[in-house]
Amino acid sequence: MLIDIIAGARPNFMKIAPIIKAIEKANKESGEAKGSEHFLEYRLIHTGQHYDRNMSGAFFEQLGIPEPHMNLESGSGTQAEQTGRIMTRYEEVLMDRKSDLCMVVGDVTSTMACSITAKKMGVKIAHVEGGIRSRDWTMPEEINRVATDSITDFFFTTSEVANKNLRNEGVSDEQIFFVGNTMIDTLLGNLERLEKPGVVDEQNLSEGSYFVMTLHRPANVDEERKLKDLVENIVEGAEDEKIIFPVHPRTRKILDGLGISHPNLIYTDPLGYLQFIWLVKYSRAVITDSGGITEETTVMGIPCLTLRDNTERPETITQGTNELIGTNPDSVKPALQKLMSGSWKSGSIPEKWDGKAAERIVGHIQALMQNGSLKPHQPFVDEELMM
Ligand code: UD1
Repeated sequence: MLIDIIAGARPNFMKIAPIIKAIEKANKESGEAKGSEHFLEYRLIHTGQHYDRNMSGAFFEQLGIPEPHMNLESGSGTQAEQTGRIMTRYEEVLMDRKSDLCMVVGDVTSTMACSITAKKMGVKIAHVEGGIRSRDWTMPEEINRVATDSITDFFFTTSEVANKNLRNEGVSDEQIFFVGNTMIDTLLGNLERLEKPGVVDEQNLSEGSYFVMTLHRPANVDEERKLKDLVENIVEGAEDEKIIFPVHPRTRKILDGLGISHPNLIYTDPLGYLQFIWLVKYSRAVITDSGGITEETTVMGIPCLTLRDNTERPETITQGTNELIGTNPDSVKPALQKLMSGSWKSGSIPEKWDGKAAERIVGHIQALMQNGSLKPHQPFVDEELMM
């Protein structure tokens, strides 16, 4: 059984790391030999969508992800350019050797591009984090989710809301596997290994008395005036507290021309995973427009103010510590006042966000192989031996 595991952009790396570990563990336990029908062989394919060391390589090292078997080097470009390059290059990979299952995670351009390519080549698709919906068609991620899910064979979901969305779209129960959240597997598996980032001592930060901020969504960062207003309102609303702002490359390009500076606003390069989670764990609150970070803050019990009008992860609000405060710069200060007054909710942890999602995924894949829903269609042939 050959599984392609696709990863392209930063938020993918923490989602695939535990899946690879679970596959390796399952192979050890089953005692199947490489080449046998039930051995779970995998090819880790990096699409190259994120390529800077601090957006990609550092995550592989910190999370113990093996070197990718191939890198499609798709690089920067418009959505269509990236999509086209990934599709063409992944198609070549599949023409060379077709896999039995293409496993995609999350909602980035690479997720959609590889799933479409694989499906057209007759390869089954597994979507980890399938079924979540923002209903916001201005987000490329929503288009990626819906396009991917429309051709997915096996959905590995993070929540009951996702299961319901899929059922409403006509997906049958046999295709839906509620497994939990692999991003949380990585979080829980690394809490003992966190590393204090340099900025903490440089800025003399003490526990619970600083904010962490991340911004990268086009709706917040692509318009200069809006980005400036947002950042200035956040700095004022945070009163005397420092704001640590690891800047995403997309945001950097725009910020550089704006020259926003304040003694409490501390810019850094994007941080490694172990450093970023350290910073969040000991912060007073997080201000972000990311989706994944709202899940991590929910599990860590850290208040999260999300600068978006909607979310595909509603359980971070109904159960977790997250609140949507919108993208209007005027709504920032009232939300920060609420936080400062000490009346933020404390939240609880969503079902199955317990660190075992990846093991469940691999268990389901083995069961699907056993019941014939997933068949290896190309027996492993060692071409060197055949010559
Ligand atoms: C992508 C994902 C988004 C995810 C985010 C996290 C899509 C549609 N979006 O958005 O869901 O939340 O990643 O980071 O897939 N760049 C660099 N160095 C890098 C990577 C990117 O300089 O290593 C630059 C690119 O050249 C581009 C910009 O950053 O100009 C944005 O990168 P891109 O991959 O297009 O999308 P993100 O905004 O990062």
